[in-house]
Amino acid sequence: MTARIIDGVALSASVRGGLAERAAALKERGVTPCLAVLLVGEDPASAVYVRNKVAGCEKTGMRSLKFVYPTDVEPAVVFAKIAELNADASVHGILVQLPLPKHFDSEAVLEAISPAKDVDGFHAENVGALMQGNPRFIPCTPYGVMKMLESEGVKIAGAEAVVVGRSNIVGKPMAMLLLAQSATVTICHSRSKDLAFHTRRADILVAAVGKERMITGDMIKPGATVIDVGMNRFASGPNAGKLCGDVDFETAKDVAGLITPVPGGVGPMTITMLLTNTMESAERTLK
Ligand code: GUN
Repeated sequence: MTARIIDGVALSASVRGGLAERAAALKERGVTPCLAVLLVGEDPASAVYVRNKVAGCEKTGMRSLKFVYPTDVEPAVVFAKIAELNADASVHGILVQLPLPKHFDSEAVLEAISPAKDVDGFHAENVGALMQGNPRFIPCTPYGVMKMLESEGVKIAGAEAVVVGRSNIVGKPMAMLLLAQSATVTICHSRSKDLAFHTRRADILVAAVGKERMITGDMIKPGATVIDVGMNRFASGPNAGKLCGDVDFETAKDVAGLITPVPGGVGPMTITMLLTNTMESAERTLK
């Protein structure tokens, strides 16, 4: 069997088309959706992510504000900017790019963002709302995965779903979203015994560990839906340095029923869902 590929680029384009229409409709009512992004330090990957977030806003008719600070900036400067943006009614979303330099208390920074503008969905109040099954902002990567499953008509209720990874950004909210749609959810992590025992039971397998090609074809149930959230580089071999996921695509595609590639799978959806959250926040101001 060769798996059908879920095309994150195409789905992303279609969702962004809808966003552009919603941005135009809001503008007619005098509101331009606006996302503020804060970047501290010179991490090259973070700089690329922030550039793509800002570009995504521009292409969908949304406004963006970008604030860049040197690595050694006083945290008070960043807290003051967050307070200013919290109070600015023309700003609908605020995002502080992670990771922050070591002298920052990241949790305190995330808690300083108004929960009503927390488009990452990382504020404790929004995490709690998601846990209670009443989300305000859904974290962007798991939100994108749910969109992909929906667009492919994957049956979630009653399915065995296995999430590999327990991060606050992906693993935990992913598990909550699948649970909310009545999957039977297992969360695996670095201390799980016999990972393959769990993954082979999965009708829906989400890999979010950050380890190059660790999920191989023999760990997958035939016909399963395999979602690869990994963003790694091949360490060696003919593709050394090129982007790859947590799933070994070459062996997995012969076993899975549906699979996301890397690149071109979950990655493009993440920023699209950030834009979606910003749009939803702007629309709420008119309700
Ligand atoms: N760094 C890596 N992923 C993310 C994300 O989803 N949001 C923020 N703010 N920073 C990140």
